[in-house]
Amino acid sequence: MNPASRTGLSQRPQWTALADHRVALGEVSLRQLFADDPDRGERYTLRVGDLHIDYSKQLVTDETLTLLRELAEATDVAGWRDAMYRGERVNTTENRAVLHTALRAPRGAVVEDGGPGGPNVVPEVHQVLDRMADFADQVRSGAWTGATGRPLRNIVNIGIGGSDLGPAMAYEVLRAFSDRDLTVRFVSNVDGADLHESVRDLDPAETLFIVASKTFTTIETVTNATSARRWLLDGLGAGPEAVARHFVALSTNAEKVTEFGIDPANMFAFWDWVGGRYSYDSAIGLSLMIAIGPERFREMLDGFHLVDEHFRTAPPEENVPLLLGLLGIWYGNFHDAQSHVVLPYSHYLSRFAAYLQQLDMESNGKRVQRDGEPVAWQTGPVVWGTPGTNGQHAYYQLLHQGTKLIPADFIGFARPVEELPDGLAAQHDLLMANFFAQTQALAFGKTAEEVRAEGVPEELVPHRTFPGNRPTTTILADELTPSVLGQLVALYEHKVFVQGAVWGIDSFDQWGVELGKVLAKEVEPLLTAKDGERSSDSLDSSTAALVARYRALRGR
Ligand code: F6P
Repeated sequence: MNPASRTGLSQRPQWTALADHRVALGEVSLRQLFADDPDRGERYTLRVGDLHIDYSKQLVTDETLTLLRELAEATDVAGWRDAMYRGERVNTTENRAVLHTALRAPRGAVVEDGGPGGPNVVPEVHQVLDRMADFADQVRSGAWTGATGRPLRNIVNIGIGGSDLGPAMAYEVLRAFSDRDLTVRFVSNVDGADLHESVRDLDPAETLFIVASKTFTTIETVTNATSARRWLLDGLGAGPEAVARHFVALSTNAEKVTEFGIDPANMFAFWDWVGGRYSYDSAIGLSLMIAIGPERFREMLDGFHLVDEHFRTAPPEENVPLLLGLLGIWYGNFHDAQSHVVLPYSHYLSRFAAYLQQLDMESNGKRVQRDGEPVAWQTGPVVWGTPGTNGQHAYYQLLHQGTKLIPADFIGFARPVEELPDGLAAQHDLLMANFFAQTQALAFGKTAEEVRAEGVPEELVPHRTFPGNRPTTTILADELTPSVLGQLVALYEHKVFVQGAVWGIDSFDQWGVELGKVLAKEVEPLLTAKDGERSSDSLDSSTAALVARYRALRGR
């Protein structure tokens, strides 16, 4: 790793070369680029595993790509990547290794925490996976019973952030692979409505709570888990001994798990070298494993591993996460793009963008470099998106004709999931026709001449003209399987890594979430105290007035 890579990014010759190149390119015309190079649509494609990546509709030339790769080289992306895979403590502000890649390493692989000579973490990973598989099989078969002797058919995961978004997203994605006799729900919000709506129609005698929290100190999760325990024991009319049959924990913190009242024998561990937002392929995925079964879960891990190996070994010209990361830098740093939209043309991926929001924004939403110096360049984008075709009837207007440049990833599949009845599977062609049409319209638009040629009255011509040159990447796979999901997630994980390495930031801490948590602890007693017991004098006048209004509305 080259420490010099951490300073003065925007002064680097590779950076200024890109800035100059951007000016020289001017307004890129994708129509022109395609006309100049009839093979562009073929040439600008890559393959990783089952994923076919078409980046021909990006505002780039061969020179752009070369310059971007030179920037990656100058900032030692490969050095940082190798250090991560070697188990070195690349999460510098927390002095931790970053080893989510070990979670999907095959049995027998060696990955050393802290770098060469450190303890090999792979055997432990597989021990936990084996225990999870054993437990999942017991729940799925009905061999694991609740306190009344009935099998547990309702699985409720309680967690937030990385302890919720990953398994919740993946469960949605892989519903068609799940045991349809199980009811699987995810509770995250400390708003009591979330737990209420998730359990109100469930029978406690058949309900398993999975309390997922890396730290086991997260107030939302501990509060919801405490309420869930009350709901269970009240519903069963049972004593605390019933908890052991209905509660398991997923955590790194055995002490807190025990303190909460969950038997450590019912705890599935993971480790501080797994970041929360990189954790759903650890024990945090237990709810998913119960839903889809250990075999399918293993297939998903293999999909992750395939892309891990690609990222580690593929040359820069063929390295897909590197390419996607650099394209993001091209737009964020050289076109002033503020956001990035992810548009899956699969209803099963409805929560994918929400998952990516934490992955990307918690990782790269940073304003200082590793050495604490403020960055003088843009870092992570706002990430958003919903499945097509719904978005088309909501915000695509802005994508096509608005004033903002919003690079988009289109994710689609050649085949609908097998489970769909024939009549519904037949709709897939229409879905995918929209998928292809949208990238076409965004790239090539419709000129004023073309609009006029249709006989549109002159005063409407500007309104009906599409400028085009809106960049997209198309990610196409045969079918949405557990392995393909693993491949997709690993792709985005490593894309985020590439960008963090170029920007010189620590993508693996999340200090920005702390202040709000601390203040909430201070504010809560001010909301609940009896009149006169607590003073809001220390608050700013806005917050003090809001607290007073809230108290008045609550009759306090
Ligand atoms: O507040 C942010 C965060 O720390 C995330 O990084 C994490 O995924 C989430 O909270 C939940 O944390 P835990 O798993 O420790 O409950």
